[in-house]
Amino acid sequence: MFKSDTTGKNADYIPYLARVDSKLFGVAVVSTDNKVYTLGDVDYSFSIQSISKVFTLALAMEELGPDKVFERVGSEPTGRPFNSVVAVVDMPTHTGNPLVNAGAIATTSLISGHDAESRWNKILNYYSKAAGEKLSLIEEVYKSEAATNQGNRALAALLLKYDRISGEPLEAVDIYTKQCSVGVSVKQLAQMGATIANSGINPVTGEQVMKAEDIPHILATMTMAGLYDGSGAWAWQVGLPAKSGVGGGILAVIPGKGAIAVFAPPLDEAGNSVKAQKVISYVARKLDINLFSPGSVGLR
Ligand code: DON
Repeated sequence: MFKSDTTGKNADYIPYLARVDSKLFGVAVVSTDNKVYTLGDVDYSFSIQSISKVFTLALAMEELGPDKVFERVGSEPTGRPFNSVVAVVDMPTHTGNPLVNAGAIATTSLISGHDAESRWNKILNYYSKAAGEKLSLIEEVYKSEAATNQGNRALAALLLKYDRISGEPLEAVDIYTKQCSVGVSVKQLAQMGATIANSGINPVTGEQVMKAEDIPHILATMTMAGLYDGSGAWAWQVGLPAKSGVGGGILAVIPGKGAIAVFAPPLDEAGNSVKAQKVISYVARKLDINLFSPGSVGLR
């Protein structure tokens, strides 16, 4: 139904992403009781990109608690593109929220470890625990992005000026670039989302990966900023906490029920996969799972 839709364009500011086959299209749904439904290019490993920000936020809250993360990063929509320098200068918090680049780099910088390698390994292991499977870096994506991430380095320098970054700014950018280059299949991504939906317990392994009390903070942040300056329209039309990545993935969480992950590289102007938005929106309407609709919370 959506397969033939050719609207949108691959991200091209990261050279690797411009070369990814724009016809790739995969869908996965994983329920909190670990029922798995997949369709299309489900084994293709694509870079998680900004969807990683959700899981580094979760790890930061595990380590520091939500209050400290809120104090250091905040949770305000920027109303600007995800890589905005203007938002950093203009906003009183300078970081915006953990799901835009500046706030995400600041969040990554909060993760503890005795050196950069151990901080990075901690993040990668945490993502693997959320997925219930071992994940790894797509080296080519990392190299392509590290060679072209001058904008993120500028954001980190500004964060230092405003005292909103912990430790060495360029180290934080490098770890952040690695976390964006982690490869996932749609099924692995949906499993990560199902962990959030399942109050932090991975439905595959049964492991408590996130604290249940941190989940509302994650879902609130996703609702408010998960699709960047497209988040308001998304909340209006679909009503599910979601997060997009410029690799072409979108992950939507249905609290208590499961998650849906869609991968299709062509993006709209805001950097969100066009087909993924259409598929999730269709499913949400068909299943009446808009979080803001009375029926979905048992009030009808
Ligand atoms: O920092 C960047 O620009 C990328 N690694 C991630 C951006 C991204 O995925 C924005 N998403 N829609």
